[in-house]
Amino acid sequence: MAIVSIATALMLAACGGTGAGGGAATSAGATGSAAAADTLVGVAMPTQTSERWIADGNAVKEGLEKAGYKVDLQYANDDIPTQTQQIDAMITAGAKLLIIAAIDGTALTSQLETAASKGIKVIAYDRLIRDSENVDFYVSFDNYKVGVAQATALLYGLGVTDKDGKATGTATKGQKVELFAGSLDDNNAHFFWNGAIDTLKPYITDGTIVVGSGQDTIEQAATLRWLQETAQKRMEDLLTSTYGGKGTGLKGVLSPYDGISRGIITALQGVGMGPSIKEGLPVVTGQDAEIASVKLIADGVQQSTIFKDTRKLAAQAVTAAQDFLAGKTPEPNNTTDYDNGKKVVPSYLLEVDTVYADTIQAMLIDSGYWTADEVKSGVAK
Ligand code: BGC
Repeated sequence: MAIVSIATALMLAACGGTGAGGGAATSAGATGSAAAADTLVGVAMPTQTSERWIADGNAVKEGLEKAGYKVDLQYANDDIPTQTQQIDAMITAGAKLLIIAAIDGTALTSQLETAASKGIKVIAYDRLIRDSENVDFYVSFDNYKVGVAQATALLYGLGVTDKDGKATGTATKGQKVELFAGSLDDNNAHFFWNGAIDTLKPYITDGTIVVGSGQDTIEQAATLRWLQETAQKRMEDLLTSTYGGKGTGLKGVLSPYDGISRGIITALQGVGMGPSIKEGLPVVTGQDAEIASVKLIADGVQQSTIFKDTRKLAAQAVTAAQDFLAGKTPEPNNTTDYDNGKKVVPSYLLEVDTVYADTIQAMLIDSGYWTADEVKSGVAK
């Protein structure tokens, strides 16, 4: 993945040319000053088991260092106490600003209180931190629209709508689907789910699609820590309980994240379905354009993924950090949607794209996110 392009993304953001508005980029051009060189920024990321967070962490670090700051980048192995300790340590080390992608969005209240008492600004990165006054800014994607896009991809794959979500009117009725959600302690999981369910609802109501197992609440569909193995196990159980152990009649699965999608696909193929969509594998959606899933999409196995350009998100985080550290307030493009339980956090939200087999080239390869070789091999170089 072309991490180098963070500099380009920053420049684009500064020119308002990110393709996603670029409006928050009020001072991206401000280069590192003498003061910046002594300024430590703490960056707390959840896990290295998903490649997007590695890309996010590297891109944020690189962007901040280019702007002249010192950076302490930490990953917490999806363990909440590890993340709280890492943030405590950053504060103790004198960090002037924190950029945090939380594991559990509700677990950081006391860290953020300490940060606020020391005048340390906090930027929530991709995942909103909940139940705290002390979150100063939020950079993310439009998470509700991610859910809409995932459900639209599913409906498109079932022939219910076109790619833009317009009903075809020719769909077979009673198509069986199953629904998966992310980790309930991640605020995003709820936005993805709500976007997806609002989109699927009319077709569930009129009987075009049916949730075969009847498991249609987010609690029933949830996947703690977004784990692939957990999703695989749930899919295996559903195949046994609802589809005669062979997947008979199952046409599609809503999946909120590529790791979960691969767990689902393993379970489906494990009972003899597919192995590709052409050969009867149900339509499975995804998110993050992880390289292993992009290869599966190219091979006609996974149907789609949602592409979130982490280079652009990192650039927005760096821009907001530069603003705060220069004593300015970053400019949000959303001041209504992200209530964290204590306040509405000013947010900058980026747009997302849906990737299908026929758009891998244009969206992922031509944009320099993955190379053609990486897509072919399914391995990031
Ligand atoms: C992110 C997704 C990611 C998921 C699992 C969410 O908070 O927004 O991009 O797929 O976490 O890591």
